[in-house]
Amino acid sequence: MKVAATIAEVRAEVRAWRKQGLTVGLVPTMGYLHEGHASLMKESVQRCDRTVVSVFVNPTQFGPNEDLEAYPRDFARDTALCEEMGVDLIFHPDVDEMYPDGNGKTDTYVEILDDMPKQLCGKTRPIHFRGVCTVVSKLFNIVLPDCAFFGEKDAQQLAIIRRMVRDLSFGIEIVGCPIIREADGLAKSSRNTYLNAEERQAALCLSKAVSLGKQMIADGEADAEKVVEAMKALINAEPLAKIDYVQAVDGMTMAPVQEVKADVLVAMAVYIGKTRLIDNFSVRM
Ligand code: PAF
Repeated sequence: MKVAATIAEVRAEVRAWRKQGLTVGLVPTMGYLHEGHASLMKESVQRCDRTVVSVFVNPTQFGPNEDLEAYPRDFARDTALCEEMGVDLIFHPDVDEMYPDGNGKTDTYVEILDDMPKQLCGKTRPIHFRGVCTVVSKLFNIVLPDCAFFGEKDAQQLAIIRRMVRDLSFGIEIVGCPIIREADGLAKSSRNTYLNAEERQAALCLSKAVSLGKQMIADGEADAEKVVEAMKALINAEPLAKIDYVQAVDGMTMAPVQEVKADVLVAMAVYIGKTRLIDNFSVRM
């Protein structure tokens, strides 16, 4: 496995693979890798001849009061996991390599202009998806993969990337991979590391709310508001939890829905202490 810090090194490596007729998968990450990322790598290694993992904490997707500086980093551990998973190349650029204007700033962004990025997480993180689309576009242009792999835990991000790929004709297959959970239900996330023991216990209210919502729908509840209100009541019963949003939306457009039907996404963001966690489920009928 190679580690590249520059765009030129990645391009040279991928060019050599292409000359041999090999296919390339990309797993974009911000590092501090866990089993959720491992499942993306596994899928890529199975589907593609070569797998590139990018490890880059992208400044343009963090707002001014968010956790850019504090975001957990452990490149040695990330490297070991990538090696174990059969990854061929890690792209680990510094901020100036990705944003040559310096200080993680750019004047060129990729942004979806309709309401899709303004819903759900976009309400409290107004520049987040512009930063995600910009860095993912750059990674696509650098690696030129056949397939790229994203987790369904970030369901809004996945829908936005699919839309961007369609609108900008990237010609890359976007593969969504299921949420990976701890044994007790908590969705795996790099941010789980911020939780102390008491908060870790409290954080279970997210996955419990997911189970409750799924059960209500399986039992025939078709009123999205009733499902959402029951989930909110469960979360509000946890003293350390503060809801950012719990919402039922169309899984493609992220527009709010009243009726539960196939492909509705029920998504939430909840603060446990200072840590903002997300979780969701999609309605399959
Ligand atoms: O999901 C993430 O970790 C990030 O948003 C991504 C896609 C790597 C872009 O920085």
